[in-house]
Amino acid sequence: MDFSIKTFDAKNPLAALKTGCLVVGVFEEGKLSPAAKGLDGKGEIAAALKSGDISGKAGSTLLMRKVNGLAAERLLLVGLGKEQPPTEKNLASAMQAAAKALTSLGAADAVFALPFEEIKDRDASWAIRSSTLGLREGAYRFESLKSKKEPAPQGPRKIAFAVPAANASAAKTALAQGVAIANGMELTKDLGNTPPNICTPTYLADTAKKLAKEFDMAVEVLDRKQIQALKMGSFLSVTHGTLEPPKFIVLKYLGSKAKDAPVVLVGKGITFDSGGISIKPSGNMDEMKYDMCGAASVLGTLRAIAELKLKLNVIGVIPSTENMPSGSATRPGDIVTSMSGQTIEILNTDAEGRLILCDALTYSERFKPAVVVDIATLTGACVTALGHHNSGLFTRHDEDHDKLAQELLVAGKAAGDTAWRMPIEENYQEQLKSNFADMANIGGPPGGSITAACFLERFTRNYTWAHIDIAGTAWKSGSTKGATGRPVPLLTTFLIHREQARERTQSGNGKKTA
Ligand code: BES
Ligand code: MN
Ligand code: ZN
Repeated sequence: MDFSIKTFDAKNPLAALKTGCLVVGVFEEGKLSPAAKGLDGKGEIAAALKSGDISGKAGSTLLMRKVNGLAAERLLLVGLGKEQPPTEKNLASAMQAAAKALTSLGAADAVFALPFEEIKDRDASWAIRSSTLGLREGAYRFESLKSKKEPAPQGPRKIAFAVPAANASAAKTALAQGVAIANGMELTKDLGNTPPNICTPTYLADTAKKLAKEFDMAVEVLDRKQIQALKMGSFLSVTHGTLEPPKFIVLKYLGSKAKDAPVVLVGKGITFDSGGISIKPSGNMDEMKYDMCGAASVLGTLRAIAELKLKLNVIGVIPSTENMPSGSATRPGDIVTSMSGQTIEILNTDAEGRLILCDALTYSERFKPAVVVDIATLTGACVTALGHHNSGLFTRHDEDHDKLAQELLVAGKAAGDTAWRMPIEENYQEQLKSNFADMANIGGPPGGSITAACFLERFTRNYTWAHIDIAGTAWKSGSTKGATGRPVPLLTTFLIHREQARERTQSGNGKKTA
């Protein structure tokens, strides 16, 4: 899909726009959007509404051909519902319905002239970003491994959004962001959906190398020997049961001065989580191929920000291995020493995510980070707590961390990829007490996602840190089984906001000295 922005003004009205199909909105009760009104010189659109051929309900459509006075071959009316200004939900339904209607038309291109500037509580930039994401989401398939591909729904390859000429530059920026986020999400989804016999730690490392080449990033892939030299005893304990070689991947996007402290994104990269000796039940175990979605979201986010050329330094850190049972696998009761020197009694080998992340979090200290955010499909308990709508957000509770939490929550809301803050408190830490080591790797059933975060917290005391548990949001089960690409929109938006904030303070400083 090729996206672009088309502009209109008094001199170049929508009516003169040459396209295979122009898409405009109508409302319930026979009301036209301003764009539709402007095109309706001969009253044909109003008459179509009056005839009852289209209700105006969100997602209703009606195709008209060769409408008087229009350069467009076709006019697709799409319902935006009752409320004016239209709600974001109704805009999404309208976009979806229009995309579907377009698949059965012969038009080679389409121009969406919906009231992007007027969505309730949102601005035009938001509307263009989210419409781009919606169209790309609808067109996504993962069929590279089917020998007979299902016929892909046809539709126009070229899509444009029509905006008033005065808004052109903001719209172009928003479109570039939407496309970059969609590209990042697609990489994240592809990696998640790729089966675990193909998407191994080596495959993730190769993907990072490819990204580095394409987008001029630096990459380092550490193998078992190098991981041993770093004394990552906790990470290594998870690799003992598998024949797949582990990889520790570091991908650096340096878009700013070398001295600028980087944002470090740490992603859980378990390419298959059988549970190890504490083996999981067989039902739906295939879905544990998605246990590398944190890692995939780090790669997807780096792809998005590299495409946008953000002026920030961002480093991706990915510990990756399978978690398998075998004669050489770690046993419940084993005690290991993490890179930090803290010892861990492994009471359940299925709580492996925290075991690989803790060493990656310690490793991240060397970058003297501005902040570290880890992203992990960490606990089933997070799914119980928050379901599939919100990712779980965990940070310490001080001023510095409250600010970081707020930044991430705001980014999630802006991106339609929301998180919900959960507590990390001393009381929960007590559940991790071990009689034989510095800590146990599980805290029992109560508050399972919180004790997992408390475990990680013990390895992050030298910097500002947040943890995002995406166990409920990274993929969907059932008939629509597939990776969602979350939280790439949240993370990318967080980084875009950080870049904007930096530019604001820099130009502010500039003014003061001038
Ligand atoms: N990868 C799983 C978490 C998970 C489970 C995500 C189901 C999504 C759906 C993680 O490694 C795990 O197994 N966690 C255990 C922790 C427990 C042993 C303390 C869990 O959630 O059951
Ligand atoms: Mn597990
Ligand atoms: Zn896991």
